[in-house]
Amino acid sequence: MTTNKLKKRHRAKWVVKTRQEVSYEIIEAMNLLDPKNPTLGRLPGGRKSNGTRLVILDHSIEALYDDQVRSYFDVNRIPVEYLSLTAGDEHKTLDQVELIAHRLNEIGTYRAGTPPIGIGGGVLQDVVGMAVSLYRRGIPYIRVPTTLLAQIDGGVAAKNGVNHGGFRNRLGTFAPPPRTLIDRTFIASLPPRQVRSGLGEALKLALIKDPFLFGILERHGDRLVAEHLQDTSEESRQVQPGLVVIKQAISGMVEELQDNLWETDLRRIVDYGHTFSPMIEMQALPYLLHGEAVALDCVFSAFLAMNRGLLSPCDLDRVIAVTRGIGLAPSHPMFCDAELLSVALADTVRHRDGHQNLTLMNGIGSATFVNDLTYPEIGKAAAQMFDLLDADERVRTTD
Ligand SMILES: NC(=O)c1ccc[n+]([C@@H]2O[C@H](COP(=O)([O-])OP(=O)(O)OC[C@H]3O[C@@H](n4cnc5c(N)ncnc54)[C@H](O)[C@@H]3O)[C@@H](O)[C@H]2O)c1
Ligand SMILES: [Zn+2]
Repeated sequence: MTTNKLKKRHRAKWVVKTRQEVSYEIIEAMNLLDPKNPTLGRLPGGRKSNGTRLVILDHSIEALYDDQVRSYFDVNRIPVEYLSLTAGDEHKTLDQVELIAHRLNEIGTYRAGTPPIGIGGGVLQDVVGMAVSLYRRGIPYIRVPTTLLAQIDGGVAAKNGVNHGGFRNRLGTFAPPPRTLIDRTFIASLPPRQVRSGLGEALKLALIKDPFLFGILERHGDRLVAEHLQDTSEESRQVQPGLVVIKQAISGMVEELQDNLWETDLRRIVDYGHTFSPMIEMQALPYLLHGEAVALDCVFSAFLAMNRGLLSPCDLDRVIAVTRGIGLAPSHPMFCDAELLSVALADTVRHRDGHQNLTLMNGIGSATFVNDLTYPEIGKAAAQMFDLLDADERVRTTD
């Protein structure tokens, strides 16, 4: 026997190499709950099935749209069962994941033929996304995000997760659902604070890559909030800022995710506003919403950029004015605490595998990465955030 043949016979290492092409769609589909609109009931890939599907509803969607949802499936004779989940980050837990798995068992969910439908905000989508990615090691589902934040951010992304051990999204998977349906009319019923929180994610994207989106937020900030992005006023009917914000933000996210969906490259500009905020948001729970914490991180990071000469003082003022214009606070006592901000950065560095990979603005609509941020720089920006606090909040913070 030749040496080569002998070597093969005694081989002790096997390598499996395979490729899986991934494609998933995000479709703008207005008035999804109109029984005459077939979109919501359709299965991805043109499949047909009469099996029972689980419809998982955010508690607010159940409270506001229950009759419409039920009559949609009744009229269209689509067999479904329901499960309602409480939203809010305090409820983004493994227990909810198990609850979904339990219901999927109860109704006899198929491997692919009866994809569940999740209708709700970012918390519900993250929990449902995780449950279905684990159920039978992964089944498809239809994602119907109903908050602005979930429509322009989480609803475009491939990942899901739950909070664990006091950390945000510590457990989760990458598993994009084959179809996401974006119906802007859901935003009409969203509490104004949630609309502003969603605009926080649009602001993030505008600051690092989209000067046009920044201009829309700058000119139409208060109207976007007042009209819940429905473009109802005469002025809005011309420019349609609500529609533009959603389309620009989704397109921007898709562009950024396209070449780095699995985050093999940990330098991601869309992580702007998500360096210091994750830990602060968890510590402040439930008092700071996700988009509020992101906007605070955006302003804090803009100070870091200005102090390094990357951003002009005039552009920093515009960032702060736009943040206020969309109704978000540019500062908060927790963003004045250099010690806390450093601890938050240290945890994010672990998430970025030992590197800061800190995205900083490099002008409006442009970004760069930094890996040598120092504690004195954090301290200086924290002091500048303190100066931005409202006078009475400043007194409370120093008490
Ligand atoms: N997977 C990702 O890539 C990704 C990206 C961004 C954010 N997220 C996650 O998203 C979560 C935040 O999402 P969120 O801001 O949507 O919060 P949320 O899901 O808690 O929803 C906010 C509130 O709005 C209510 N609500 C939902 N739709 C409504 C409607 N149409 N009308 C009235 N009320 C409605 C909910 O019941 C809840 O009370 C965070 O946990 C964050 O980590 C995930
Ligand atoms: Zn976010």
